[in-house]
Amino acid sequence: MKTNPSPMFPATRLRRNRKADWSRRLVSENALSVNDLIWPLFLIEGKGKREAIPSMPGVERLSVDEALRAAEEAATLGIPVVALFPHTSKDRRDATGTLALDANNLVAQATRAIKAEFPQVGILCDAALDPYTSHGHDGVMDGERILNDETVELLVQQSLMQVEAGCDIIAPSDMMDGRVGAIRSALEKAGHTDTQIMSYAAKFASAFYGPFRDAIGSTGVLKGDKRSYQMDPANGDEAIREVALDIAEGADMVMVKPGMPYLDVLARVKQEFGLPTFAYQVSGEYAMLAGAIQNGWLDGDRVILETMMSFKRAGADGVLTYFAPAAARLIKAL
Ligand code: PBG
Repeated sequence: MKTNPSPMFPATRLRRNRKADWSRRLVSENALSVNDLIWPLFLIEGKGKREAIPSMPGVERLSVDEALRAAEEAATLGIPVVALFPHTSKDRRDATGTLALDANNLVAQATRAIKAEFPQVGILCDAALDPYTSHGHDGVMDGERILNDETVELLVQQSLMQVEAGCDIIAPSDMMDGRVGAIRSALEKAGHTDTQIMSYAAKFASAFYGPFRDAIGSTGVLKGDKRSYQMDPANGDEAIREVALDIAEGADMVMVKPGMPYLDVLARVKQEFGLPTFAYQVSGEYAMLAGAIQNGWLDGDRVILETMMSFKRAGADGVLTYFAPAAARLIKAL
């Protein structure tokens, strides 16, 4: 869409439309809704446990029973989806991430519990091995190399297990090639024809994931970096290719990650493909804002809503954000 040619000042005074609240509301191009929020939750073993994550002020790891309370809060606030991420201690990790396939792991337990009590809340589960591997990578390794096809086979099994536990949306976050197609055909074969796939389609090798790795117990575990599978932050055209492939392989929705530093990519993806497109406001973005808010350097209510609006304006249909419950309350109060 081209900008309309406007006559010169004073025929055009753009401030006219901004003169009063009613007028600003009348001409506003985007609106926030709780329906656009996905709330990521971190899980830990135990009962009645909530554990602070120092690098994510205000976010806690939750035992399954506490995650149920969070799901209840999501239901009450009208947040459509929660995303589940497990913390795994070093002693339960191994080279191939065996625990990822265990039908009794934290993600499976929480999925079953939430689906039993709050079936109206959607559940998104990552397909990725990194919370479970002893080296913190998203794939199995041969020496220094991350093996693609061998990893995809495990991601397929992990996805099937999670769907059998009740997961509604599988979100492959590993950036292996061909994983969306492999997961889609396995789901079809197993009769899971309604399972959605939200692919982390354009996921960059970002330093903004640091606090997430604290949260899931991968800090100090991860050897090297993820640049042989996650994308180079320099590349925009390649992001379009990644998204095109995931759509061709059967993704229902795509995600761009991180969020704010990649709004240009988000806008391009939405414009190019027009399918449901999501932004992940990742842990490092959360930490920056939450840290500044905690110190009184930023007005929390306003920056939370402003960042949400930025994602909407760029073209996001929804946002994965640790601010989801706070944002939902703020949106309801608007
Ligand atoms: C796992 C995964 C990561 C995130 C979501 N899923 C981390 C990573 O790829 O290292 C990051 C989320 C965040 O930082 O909030 N593959």
